[in-house]
Amino acid sequence: MNDKNAAIGVFDSGVGGLTVAREIIRQLPEESITYFGDTARVPYGSKSKDTIIRYSRQIIRFLKTKNVKAIVVACNTASAFALDTIEKEIDIPIIGVVKPGAKSAVESTKNKRIGIIGTEGTIKSELYTQYIHSIDPEITVVGKACPLFVPLVEEGMLHDSVTDEVASRYLESMKEENIDSLILGCTHYPLLRSTIGQIMGEGVTLVNPAYETALELGRLLKEQDMQSTGQGQSDFPYRFYVSDLAEKFKGFANSILPFDVEKTQKIDIEKY
Ligand code: DGL
Repeated sequence: MNDKNAAIGVFDSGVGGLTVAREIIRQLPEESITYFGDTARVPYGSKSKDTIIRYSRQIIRFLKTKNVKAIVVACNTASAFALDTIEKEIDIPIIGVVKPGAKSAVESTKNKRIGIIGTEGTIKSELYTQYIHSIDPEITVVGKACPLFVPLVEEGMLHDSVTDEVASRYLESMKEENIDSLILGCTHYPLLRSTIGQIMGEGVTLVNPAYETALELGRLLKEQDMQSTGQGQSDFPYRFYVSDLAEKFKGFANSILPFDVEKTQKIDIEKY
């Protein structure tokens, strides 16, 4: 039996999953988090399914050495490519971001036209579309890969004319589709929310899967009687591990999270 006060393991290809960790911290402040960012092997968005499954298995083996009680796959690409495989292999609860994101979008749309933007891998997998159609087959889903958004965010170009130009080009065709809800189907995209929102206009609701993912995690912990009691929780119940460039990660984390991360530890993920 797992310890209720053990941490939630959260992983992503790098820094982007901190947008999901931020939402978990906001909604479930009594929970501890052990975060792993695969900064040595980012991006996942342009890699094959087999590679993403291999990486995800290694990360889960690492997180289990930290005795986490549940795992959140914060990366959309890993959720799309690896979750169905790894959930069959693991003995603790695991959730991804795609299913909750799809559910939120279905709840949001009035005209039954949903857009989804993400990495090439996420869009090609069509998993968002499958989940949306499993809830309502009459919904039209329009997908668009936006591969330059990740490096632009990683460069800190959140409010920059180059980013505005790239976003306008990517979203031009989406604007013609008469969608009323747009899923930000990549961990980095919520950081471009204002740019994307301005281009799409007020009539389009931007759906951040992180919000519904944290809600689902809360429900799951409650159902399984695994909510933390807070007992023995340290003053700073968050741990951060990366596979490369710990200092760079720390800088990024400090700009996303509501507190400063003092320590980030680099580990050799290939050993797991
Ligand atoms: N974390 C990835 C995702 O949400 C984006 C970055 C990457 O391509 O690795 O799909």
